[in-house]
Amino acid sequence: MRKPIIAGNWKMNMTPAEAERLVAELIPLLKDAACEVVICPPYVDLALVGKLLVGTNIKLGAQNVHWAPKGAFTGEISADMLLAIGVSHAIVGHSERRQYFGETDETVNKRAKAALDANITPIICVGETLEQRESGVTDTIVSKQTIAALAGFSAEEVVRSVIAYEPIWAIGTGRTATNEDANTTIKVIRDAIAGVYGQKVADEVRIQYGGSMNAKNATELMAMPEIDGGLIGGASLKSEDFSKVVHF
Ligand code: 13P
Repeated sequence: MRKPIIAGNWKMNMTPAEAERLVAELIPLLKDAACEVVICPPYVDLALVGKLLVGTNIKLGAQNVHWAPKGAFTGEISADMLLAIGVSHAIVGHSERRQYFGETDETVNKRAKAALDANITPIICVGETLEQRESGVTDTIVSKQTIAALAGFSAEEVVRSVIAYEPIWAIGTGRTATNEDANTTIKVIRDAIAGVYGQKVADEVRIQYGGSMNAKNATELMAMPEIDGGLIGGASLKSEDFSKVVHF
């Protein structure tokens, strides 16, 4: 019922020339994908990549979005600007932004709402630190982050959103959550959504796993009933690896 969605988060990688080469490799490799496929290059590559993706099945995502339509917000990009160059998805609240750039539950909520208002799908990231996991507060943390990110949304807006569960200790470390742990925590997130919006809405929301997901472990992770997709960092930078994840 929930269509799987695999998204590549290129983070701060790929010059325009490098992006062009990678996209040229990805287009034929991914053309028969059964799932929804999104790539999220850095801002400087977006317009170029958007042009290259016209007429393909690969969707274009940004790595962030500001909540205001325009104005004095140096370094930020608005949803309308993204929409104008063909962006359909935007990552919001990635843990790297929360950790290094002062992103809060409140700004995540505002960014996600602005994306939805522009008909851009927010990919809202939540996840616990290693310390939080070891002290047994994972469920509380991810539930709180999720409900805060969705604050004020209608049921329809919740269904249009994608949640990405990314345990911080699994990001870029090669240490993936076990299939069971990822599935269990995603179920916790779904239950939290059900608690506020009802089971029907919760059953429709797609929730990805992210954190060292790659060509080797994607099949097993995607076989778990609660996991509806992946948010892929390192393995999205190599066409063959990303293709294997997409064809899980
Ligand atoms: P890695 O796949 O490199 O662990 O990164 C995951 C991630 O943060 C995707 O947003």
